[in-house]
Amino acid sequence: MENYNDDIRAGEIPENPGDTDNYDMKAIQWFPGHMAKTRRAIAANLKLVDAAAELLDARVPLSSRNPEIDRILGSKPRIVILNKCDLADNNATQAWVSWFRKKGVTAIAVDCKSGKGLNRLMPVLKEDVLSELIAKRERSGMAGAPIRLMILGIPNVGKSSLINRLAGSKRTKVEDRPGVTRVKQWVRLRDNTELLDMPGVLWPKFEDQNAAVRLAFTGAISDDILDTETIAMKLLSFLGRSYPGSLTERYKITPEEGDTGLSLLYKVGKKRGMVVSGGEIDTERAAVTVLDEFRSGRLGRITLEMPPEED
Ligand code: G4P
Repeated sequence: MENYNDDIRAGEIPENPGDTDNYDMKAIQWFPGHMAKTRRAIAANLKLVDAAAELLDARVPLSSRNPEIDRILGSKPRIVILNKCDLADNNATQAWVSWFRKKGVTAIAVDCKSGKGLNRLMPVLKEDVLSELIAKRERSGMAGAPIRLMILGIPNVGKSSLINRLAGSKRTKVEDRPGVTRVKQWVRLRDNTELLDMPGVLWPKFEDQNAAVRLAFTGAISDDILDTETIAMKLLSFLGRSYPGSLTERYKITPEEGDTGLSLLYKVGKKRGMVVSGGEIDTERAAVTVLDEFRSGRLGRITLEMPPEED
């Protein structure tokens, strides 16, 4: 889809009348104690690996970034993996890859559902991210030593899917709850690479309300943080502005000047014949439909934030 809009910027999200700032973050609870424990656990495991793969959602690369990732990783070589690129706008994904490159971070776009793009991971790691280490090992006669990698990311970003894809078998789903540990295992991959089969589950960016809303759109933060209708209205307001073609194509509605998230929700409900007794539009049902269809990609390939302009 070519209709991504240049004026979508990180930190900016369309406002709806009736918005509330009182988000109740009860869905995923990360207390300061949990964060400290997670930080320590990741630091301990980082010592065992040569590089960290920071998994981000290609639709929300900044919002799905852990706020302390730079501090946690320090000087550890890293690669950014923009996952779920099958759901994101292609042009936007390319813009993000370039943005990371300008920051000196190697990024690749993948789709762990189909495996698309994953064949580039090891070559890019070896030729780019770890080229110095590999040259050093060759000089010291250690060329045969395996490359060890750890996967990091917030809940739902696709860590288990990535590990399963790379390992070529279905492994246990990573435990999302903070502080819960699992037995550490190394998975041997082709290319003389070993994967730490214990993804580092990082906490999302709670302190940034706009980021939290975008994560709610993608389903990464459970819908409990806001009510479903509010999330759907915010999403519709964004789509009406930045991806109106998607709404027209999917729901046969045309967003107009002055439309709000609520008016668009009514339009969707009406088009889909979602009415309750008395002829009222069933906005709850319409909201669930919109969120479900957005998350599964049925509204098209949509990116929710673009690289910040000042960079
Ligand atoms: P996590 O370990 O980081 O928590 O994430 P996990 O791999 O469990 O993935 C979370 C959801 O995202 C899963 O969907 C998974 O299938 C989906 N997913 C992962 N990578 C991709 C991708 O590249 N593209 C798309 N479209 N989806 C992806 P689910 O609905 O929770 O489960 P299911 O559909 O696999 O049953």
